[in-house]
Amino acid sequence: MDVLEAIRSRRSTRSFEPRGLEPEIINAIETAITSSPSGSNAQESHFVIVQDPAQIRRIKRFAPGLSGDPAAVVVLCSNRRDALERGGADTAEVLRFVNMGIAAAYVLLTTFSFGLGNCPVRSFHRGAIKEIVGLPGDIEPELLITMGYPAEPPRLKTSMPMTEVISHDHFGHR
Ligand SMILES: Cc1cc2nc3c(=O)[nH]c(=O)nc-3n(C[C@H](O)[C@H](O)[C@H](O)COP(=O)(O)O)c2cc1C
Repeated sequence: MDVLEAIRSRRSTRSFEPRGLEPEIINAIETAITSSPSGSNAQESHFVIVQDPAQIRRIKRFAPGLSGDPAAVVVLCSNRRDALERGGADTAEVLRFVNMGIAAAYVLLTTFSFGLGNCPVRSFHRGAIKEIVGLPGDIEPELLITMGYPAEPPRLKTSMPMTEVISHDHFGHR
């Protein structure tokens, strides 16, 4: 699938078929993660790909924003210590979240291109998720991405008008 086509047609999915993911999709997620750019090439983020149904049930208990029964959940984790060591203060304060956002987009588009639906989820109990997936001290869960084969067609997207969010050459120039 063409990247722009994936960007245009992807919508958040919140109900999934009870069907697991093929190993090639997991490989593609791993490639998306490790190919994602990061400031100073610091690559400080960590990602836990959860497919074990018991683990997903535990995560769901502590994630009110997580809808449906996804086949997999990717836990995107920041690592402040590695960010500081590898990228410096700007990476530790800001860029680690920018880096993670880019990686999240890569995972969303890659999985969508394989026919999966997905949804980013921020509404979860960070301490509980940290414990469930066994994250060590400095590594914090920041975002979940749920995914699976969609059970329903996605709802329509409401987008801001281009002229409201995009300027050309100078702010406010349409
Ligand atoms: C950082 C972030 C956090 C989000 N957290 C949640 C969440 O906790 N629960 C949820 O159902 N959707 C969540 N979403 C999905 C948004 O509601 C959704 O992306 C937005 O409504 C736009 O719809 P679309 O993804 O179909 O384009 C989140 C999205 C982002 C980018």
